Amino acid sequence: MSAAARWRAYLEGWALPADLLAAVPDSPYVWPADLYRRRQRAEAGGPPDPTARVVAGLLPGGGSVLDVGAGTGRASLPIAAEGHRLTAVERNPAMAAVLRTEAETAGVEVRVIEGPWPEVAAEAGRHDVVVCTHVVYDIAELAPFLRGLHEAARVAVVLEAGERHPWANLIPYYRAMHHLERPDGPTAGLLVEVVGEVLRVTPEAEHWIGGDRMRFADLQELVEFYRRRLLVPVARTAELADRLVPDIVEQDGWLSLGSEQGAVTLWWRTG
Ligand SMILES: C[S@@+](CC[C@H](N)C(=O)[O-])C[C@H]1O[C@@H](n2cnc3c(N)ncnc32)[C@H](O)[C@@H]1O
Repeated sequence: MSAAARWRAYLEGWALPADLLAAVPDSPYVWPADLYRRRQRAEAGGPPDPTARVVAGLLPGGGSVLDVGAGTGRASLPIAAEGHRLTAVERNPAMAAVLRTEAETAGVEVRVIEGPWPEVAAEAGRHDVVVCTHVVYDIAELAPFLRGLHEAARVAVVLEAGERHPWANLIPYYRAMHHLERPDGPTAGLLVEVVGEVLRVTPEAEHWIGGDRMRFADLQELVEFYRRRLLVPVARTAELADRLVPDIVEQDGWLSLGSEQGAVTLWWRTG
């Protein structure tokens, strides 16, 4: 089986069973725009992470950036603040709305294209560097997605992703709460294989810790977030809290579940 087909099969395996979805009132897939904004503000002003350093090293003076799956602009608003032209593609209207207000607050200009990649690629146009952080595990059809990124970049593509699926740290809780097994992939290693297979390039890679830590103000907020993600009916909230509490970590006044996960920054030249 090709690497792209293995990627798709893993992601299809992550689909949640219909009976568990039907037993809860709210969707586990909703994007928590406020939590992303909080993370972005907590990270603002800190030292640049590996992705920011790589993008800065590849961008020509006055060059333009395209951020695909930009969310609230965490990865790219700091680049725009350095004087680079920024175009952001985001398919979720709530995330795009927060991105616009964050750009306004930061006093930077961003052209926001609301829609799915690669369908909106022609509207987004070509840019010097294309950046895409923490999106690929949402994308079952990775080949056209990656080709779109590659063709949109005059100089280089920079991808950031977790070493494992972003919900991989929840596997023990799905098992404990529902006796539900989850796939053991895909991983960043398979992502590198798909990039090689589809684009015939070998990306450079920097592995690091961090990049996707959710910050919660208190226990109630944390438990409510994971109750949704884990499809736990409200009546079993206390049982879930008992399972989560031993794994909660406090850092800088915020609560998170578990320690920070590994991430990888991948990049390759297109020109
Ligand atoms: C985990 S968030 C990451 C956001 C941001 N890049 C960051 O690193 O903070 C993933 C974002 O990608 C967006 N997204 C997923 N698939 C997309 C697609 N095909 N086209 C555009 N946006 C997409 C989601 O709506 C979400 O806002």
